[in-house]
Amino acid sequence: MTQQPSCPKSSKVPSPQNRHWSSSLKDPSLFKQDVAYINGEWRPAKSGRTFKVDDPSTSDLVGTCAECDAQDARAAIQAAADAFPAFRTLTGRERAKLLRKWYDLMVENAEDIAKLITWENGKPVAEAKGEVAYAANFFEWFSEEAPRTYGDTIPATVPGNRVWTVKEPVGVCGLITPWNFPAAMITRKVAPALAAGCAVVCKVPAETPFTALAVAELGHRAGIPKGVVNIVTTLENTPEIGELLTTDPVIKKVSFTGSTGVGKLLMKQSSGTLKKLSMELGGNAPFIVFDDADLDLAVAGAIACKFRGTGQTCVCANRLYVQEGIYDEFVQKVTEKVNAFKVGNGFDEATTHGPLIHDRAIAKVEAHIKDAKSKGGKIVAGGEKLSKLGANFFQPTVIRDMTPDMAMATEETFGPVAGVFPFKTEAEVVKMANQVEVGLAGYFFSRDLQRVYRVAEALEVGMVGVNTGIISDPAAPFGGVKESGFGREGSKYGIAEYQITKTITYGGMGKPLQS
Ligand code: SIN
Repeated sequence: MTQQPSCPKSSKVPSPQNRHWSSSLKDPSLFKQDVAYINGEWRPAKSGRTFKVDDPSTSDLVGTCAECDAQDARAAIQAAADAFPAFRTLTGRERAKLLRKWYDLMVENAEDIAKLITWENGKPVAEAKGEVAYAANFFEWFSEEAPRTYGDTIPATVPGNRVWTVKEPVGVCGLITPWNFPAAMITRKVAPALAAGCAVVCKVPAETPFTALAVAELGHRAGIPKGVVNIVTTLENTPEIGELLTTDPVIKKVSFTGSTGVGKLLMKQSSGTLKKLSMELGGNAPFIVFDDADLDLAVAGAIACKFRGTGQTCVCANRLYVQEGIYDEFVQKVTEKVNAFKVGNGFDEATTHGPLIHDRAIAKVEAHIKDAKSKGGKIVAGGEKLSKLGANFFQPTVIRDMTPDMAMATEETFGPVAGVFPFKTEAEVVKMANQVEVGLAGYFFSRDLQRVYRVAEALEVGMVGVNTGIISDPAAPFGGVKESGFGREGSKYGIAEYQITKTITYGGMGKPLQS
């Protein structure tokens, strides 16, 4: 993706390429170019500027997008503030019906949304379809939670008082989402916010804005009242809009998914107005295979977990620890599977794994491989750029004989590199697994029930996968500990992030009646 500082009006006419892309959608009107969604309307940026979004597979232009700045974001915040008083008074059941309708429209338009994801993110269409289903399920789940936001009746300590609590929406929320799940990371935040009765301003990633805008269009069609959902797009003004969302006193809550570094900055900025926060930050997931594991299950889990999204998810395995007794066999089986991958354009049906998002992602992968090689790691699969396919393709890679002094032992790679570390004992591997500052997900494979409890309890992470490499589920709480952040998304806990608990004390009831 490249910045286009001042896009002349004429460039807003779609190029033949663009016409081709959007016209291949069943509903081309889902492809929204050069406009943000503010107060229920599609508007160009006030400055008239746009930026380009490129296909990570071909580096061709996907389209141009409104380069919003603080003026646009302020208009979006104002729209949300104006919409909030009426929206919060809808009953949970009324909000549930809106979310359910949005879910239905996501399902009806799944193919088009999946195409948009593949164009701008690069993931294979089959995987993109899986993401659309995952994304839609947050609308379904929270449509079911919206009518069930109970308070408590509390026995008072003070004689004559009555105490009860009610759940109220926190207010206008600023949501900042990443490019690796262009649809699901939006719905995972927007759905609980709306279920709680909040209005939102969503700053979507510059790499994948078109999916977000299409999801917003479906929300519009579902009848979400104007101003309740606002989407601002930007490349260049990302820091400015991030600062506004974290400092404007109208915003009462910020939810961010992204890197730990940016999360810390946003948290600092939010401190001036003490906003409620949810931070879904970076991971560095340990993936442990004990000698007693079902080896084939562990291999399948490793492949699914490590290479999902070409290694670009926060919950991807980053460090594979395999016990000595099965180390060689595990490495051999994983290598065979990786060698069978078909890397390519996500629209090619044979493709199992797409490109990385941009050249910075490639650079990090290369740096981690170089570091591992220089310290004795042996590459048994991949290891090279796939330049003949395009600028952002990299061979899925397996490295054996990894050691704790290598960068991958402590830093997240966010790419298709499986570094396999040998270990001897349970105590040793748990110590290594916990020796990082982050703690999002962790996985292990074992058939020993006592070990399952012991290790699950000992891992310093927010989510543990036991005998599975895939843990994402709208019904299950998603979130981390340590520097992976705080707050939980999805599940029965997700809505609480967008609510306050108000205590009401009714005094002076006098003495109770005695029968
Ligand atoms: C993420 O990478 O942040 C989300 C992964 C998931 O929801 O499975």
